[in-house]
Amino acid sequence: MFERPKSGERAVLVHLNLDPSTGNELLREFKELAKAAGAEVLAIVTGNRRMPESHFFIGEGKAEEVHTKVLETHADLVLINHRLSPSQERNLEKFLGCRVLDRTGLILDIFAQRARSFEGKLQVELAQHRHIATRLVRGWTHLERQRGGSIGLRGPGETQLELDRRLIGKRIQQLVKRLQRVREQREQGRRTRLRHAVTTVSIVGYTNAGKSTLFNALTGAEMFAADQLFATLDTTLRRLHLDEGRILVLADTVGFIRQLPHDLVAAFRSTLQETEEAALLLHVVDASDPQRDVYIETVNAVLAEIGAQSVPQLEVFNKIDLTGQLPAVENGPDGKPRRVWVSAGSGAGLDLLRQAIAECLRSETVQGWLKLAPAQSRARAAFFGLGAVREEKVEQDGSSLLQVELPRSEYQRLCRREGLNPSLLAL
Ligand code: GTP
Repeated sequence: MFERPKSGERAVLVHLNLDPSTGNELLREFKELAKAAGAEVLAIVTGNRRMPESHFFIGEGKAEEVHTKVLETHADLVLINHRLSPSQERNLEKFLGCRVLDRTGLILDIFAQRARSFEGKLQVELAQHRHIATRLVRGWTHLERQRGGSIGLRGPGETQLELDRRLIGKRIQQLVKRLQRVREQREQGRRTRLRHAVTTVSIVGYTNAGKSTLFNALTGAEMFAADQLFATLDTTLRRLHLDEGRILVLADTVGFIRQLPHDLVAAFRSTLQETEEAALLLHVVDASDPQRDVYIETVNAVLAEIGAQSVPQLEVFNKIDLTGQLPAVENGPDGKPRRVWVSAGSGAGLDLLRQAIAECLRSETVQGWLKLAPAQSRARAAFFGLGAVREEKVEQDGSSLLQVELPRSEYQRLCRREGLNPSLLAL
């Protein structure tokens, strides 16, 4: 029986090179993650290893090296850039006399700090409880309340350790139920937006690219929550004004991270549903980061995983104040804006970005007149139901002329369902 060491922010980082082809990139990212979690990096221990070792994962020799570093630097946390089994984590903690957090625990901690929406926060809490449940041993349950704000103990972690498995199980059930309710609410909100033909534009991007800064810069202080129509628990949706009369919702999402643990991708899938259903994605990229191409690929891979690969994208190359570039718009081969260079921090290029968003959306929206025979009353009701009718004229023979405006994808779906000819008349 041992007592689990207390966690702190003074950390030793451990990274093994298991795949030589990945070079130093993973280590660099690991340092960023540790800093993002609020750790003070005191020392870094690296090594090469072809296969993980079963007892400590990092091997006994490496464990001793880490132990020396912990004593030298008086660190109180060891971060391992790999996924450890519960027993490996325990063995290492016992050996080092210091709290150990693996990559999943570290990422969960960052997510706990940064989850944007109420639902996202619940999801992180659920994932943290599930993660901890597998690592709970009897010795840990007698720990007294831990100091707040420590890495890996944020969110539910702190009180967590005082609970036994039964209590964790109960909390997990509660969270699942709450999430279910939030999801139902979100689904309702989504349907309301669809009915009112509100277009959603979703911000995605690698962690630290500047998504929240851009979100705030584009929307100002206009909170959506105050608006009855969109009343939702979510603080991540705000109204965006581009041109007159058009209601747009801008959605901010959690940052993407390389090698996102698979269960986390699953957990965030529903939060990212806004992304999948968006009319346009703003893919924010830190233009000043030498690794930006790798990050773009990573984000696209996660998007593919959540089924959002075919949503049109506008790349927003952010932080040009650091690179010295000027605000600009680049068009793709189809003549539509493909990339905009901006600085969300200074505001440079945001006017160009607004124009580019409007232009991208224009081609994603259909507008025109449609003639429906009296027998097609169901199709007529469907257009009204979607809030897509701008004007109606009734002809002498009883047929209707509808002026419609709605997202192209919705229009195509309706035409298919109702067997309509999708060509519109321009009167
Ligand atoms: P995650 O929450 O990790 O996903 O990050 P995020 O993409 O929302 O990034 P956030 O908006 O929090 O910005 C990350 C950092 O970049 C902050 O320190 C910002 O101040 C900084 N930043 C954002 N935009 C700019 C910019 O245009 N120029 C400069 N110099 N810094 C910026």
